Amino acid sequence: MKRVLSLMLVASGAMLGAAAVPSLAADAQPRPKVDAAKGEQLFTNGDPARNIISCASCHGPGGNSPGAANPKLAGQHPEYLYKQLVNFKVKEGAKTPERVNAVMNANVAGLTDEDMRNISAYLGAQTLKPAVAKNKDTVELGQRIFRAGIASKGVPACVSCHSPNGAGIPSQYPRVGGQFAEYTEAQLVAFRSGARHNNVPMAQIANKMSDAEIKAVADYIAGLR
Ligand code: HEC
Ligand code: HEC
Repeated sequence: MKRVLSLMLVASGAMLGAAAVPSLAADAQPRPKVDAAKGEQLFTNGDPARNIISCASCHGPGGNSPGAANPKLAGQHPEYLYKQLVNFKVKEGAKTPERVNAVMNANVAGLTDEDMRNISAYLGAQTLKPAVAKNKDTVELGQRIFRAGIASKGVPACVSCHSPNGAGIPSQYPRVGGQFAEYTEAQLVAFRSGARHNNVPMAQIANKMSDAEIKAVADYIAGLR
């Protein structure tokens, strides 16, 4: 232990003295390497030996799901994707996962931490083929909610976190723009019911929204680019 400590001190001392050799910092603290190519392989083909089925069979090639039954994952921020995969797993000591969904709760069971990081890195680098908005009658209401919130109910503007074009803010707020309206609607309903209890602000926001408001904003979001 003492030896490890002194080695670390030597390494950090060397770092301070020699800015020209930054690789020393990496050597002193080996971090798991994220491998997007391995992520692509696992996402696309699964791993029969480990009972992991192809993610692409539902989420589409490159995470561009072709149908509303499964969300699009292409171009989503890797930090967000990784967090969701972790949230689909049951934490030690907990009875239910923070994000309850029978299909995904089963799909993540065989994934290692490394698998989840690799897949997230791969998906984050793919280009989203966005969905479309379909309901002309609710676009105005949806846009108003997304841009300005609902002041009378204390619903904040979605843009303040998810950005005006719905691209979110890398590592902090997920991309929502171009997602299937059906999926976005289902998530807001899940935040409201507590089936998805992995984020307090989103639960508080959804709690204040009616079904009609959720539907309108979800459809508007599908059309964002
Ligand atoms: C049988 C179809 C199916 C398979 C196979 C599948 N998924 Fe999913 N996935 C879904 C569905 C449905 C949802 C939406 C869950 C919900 O409503 O909460 C989802 C949600 C997700 C989400 C959350 C997306 C978001 O925007 O929050 C991620 C990440 C994800 N899946 C990754 C994967 C990975 C990685 C694999 C492969 C190991 C995989 N999925 C395999 C159907 C599937
Ligand atoms: C204070 C910041 C904030 C505001 C305001 C906000 N969100 Fe979010 N939203 C988040 C965060 C953070 C997450 C990711 C939660 C997690 O970690 O699972 C999220 C997640 C979501 C998701 C899930 C995305 C997915 O792929 O599953 C949807 C849908 C969503 N927000 C819609 C909205 C809508 C609609 C509004 C406006 C009515 C809104 N958000 C306002 C921070 C915010």
